[in-house]
Amino acid sequence: MIDVLIIGSGIAGLTAAINASQNNSKVLVLSKTFPTHSQSVQAQGGINAVIYEENDNINNHIEDTYKASCNLANKKNIKRMCENAKDAILWLDKIGVPFNRTNDNKIAQRKFGGTSKIRTCYSSDYTGLKVLHTLYDKAIDLNIKIESEHLLLNLIIKEQLCIGVTALDINTGIVKEYYSKTVLLATGGYAGIYSKHTTNSYSNTGDGIVVAFNAGVELSNMEFIQFHPTTLENSNILISESARGEGGLLLDKDENRFIDELKPRDEVARAIYERILNNEKVYLDLRHFGLNKIKELIPQERKLALQYSNIKVENELLPITPAAHYSMGGIKTDIDGKTNIKNLYACGECAQSFIHGANRLGGNSLLEIVTFGKIVGLIASNNSKEITTIEYISNQLSLDKEFVSNLYKNQNEMNFYSKKEEISALLFEKLGLFRNESDMSILLEELKEIESNIPNMGIGDKSKIYNKNLVEFIEFINIVKVSILTALCAKERLESRGSHYRLDYPIKNDSYEKTSLIRKVGDKIEIEFEEII
Ligand code: FUM
Repeated sequence: MIDVLIIGSGIAGLTAAINASQNNSKVLVLSKTFPTHSQSVQAQGGINAVIYEENDNINNHIEDTYKASCNLANKKNIKRMCENAKDAILWLDKIGVPFNRTNDNKIAQRKFGGTSKIRTCYSSDYTGLKVLHTLYDKAIDLNIKIESEHLLLNLIIKEQLCIGVTALDINTGIVKEYYSKTVLLATGGYAGIYSKHTTNSYSNTGDGIVVAFNAGVELSNMEFIQFHPTTLENSNILISESARGEGGLLLDKDENRFIDELKPRDEVARAIYERILNNEKVYLDLRHFGLNKIKELIPQERKLALQYSNIKVENELLPITPAAHYSMGGIKTDIDGKTNIKNLYACGECAQSFIHGANRLGGNSLLEIVTFGKIVGLIASNNSKEITTIEYISNQLSLDKEFVSNLYKNQNEMNFYSKKEEISALLFEKLGLFRNESDMSILLEELKEIESNIPNMGIGDKSKIYNKNLVEFIEFINIVKVSILTALCAKERLESRGSHYRLDYPIKNDSYEKTSLIRKVGDKIEIEFEEII
């Protein structure tokens, strides 16, 4: 019997798997992509931790994180993350993450935005990739079973108890069921729904969040999407904050600075986008670094600029634009990663664990996924030791086999790929950096129209084996749902706070110093605002 079934093989999922396995649990990791293709590998700039206390202390880290959250986080949860940060870095260092080091062999740290001190540890500008690869090596070393290319379809729930999941085996086209004492969702965020305006990979479609919602799991703070200030103008490929952290400047069309480059991301992104809306270009200037510094500290940024914009950053200005980067909202969890369904846990970007609130600090996402990956993996593992039996009977498998087989029969009169592009443009325009009531109402109408037309959309490829067309159609259904949930919550929050900026309610309103909660009750969707405990 599986003790801990982990969905997702990014950094959160693998950290949880390693810790649960070392705690003597039988672990299975199911994942839509291969671990090395997970979104985690795209995290570039670094991971925050107070390691050396000469100039910094944990309290500063807690306060910076809380301030950035615009009071929508829980200090107790933040404290847990920050207090575990040093151990997390030392653990990663021990298992082989090649952190940059100073001349006296300390782990090197760089400045990131919104922080009072220098505390971002890094591995060049490939931090996520290096962490993920190291964790994957470790997971292989521990013989952890990973079944890649399995798309989560549903949770199996019996009397408010999660006992497993169903998933589509992408390689064979077979729908399977998996029973487990505990289930941990580490499926990533949903900023990928802004598909033409995002730093995320196409696979970040919020699948785990939608599956959880459909099963009655509460979601929270869905309206908060972070827009990264600096992405390449035409491709939205991320240009890491580390470029600004190391001294890169933002220049307007007249080559003047217009903002402190290291203010919180929401402020920097809005200042840039205001100019872009005014048909003015905005540039990142790295010319003063010189080639050696660029090659040493941010080699990937140079490579990306050259490859995708044909620009040599050591000589030329780099035109940039903001794009959706991170989703602060997701599956509501308590400090232990528990959801409102027993034996179901969540961690990583799919979880709203009251850390980031309305705005996340750069470098805190990698920290959250490692610290909470470990904590939640261990808690699920310990919990599984108290469960002796589970009931292996459910009709979910037959329902999902029927669901998939019906998708093959859909009429395919409307092309879902063009609808996906339409949604991306609509989201960026009407649920982007600047929002207002009428735009969001139009957006919701359009999304509901698209949703009602899903039966008229379908797949051209009717094969069973490795049917990407089918996978992308199921992802599309999830995109529509998660877009609706995000828009519904955004429309209800009548204020501006962090990344949620409303032109019709431009200031913070104390009565909204609460987290939003959205849940499915029967066929209805309920939204409320909840005090932060
Ligand atoms: O800009 C970056 O390197 C991104 C870091 C983050 O989102 O934490």
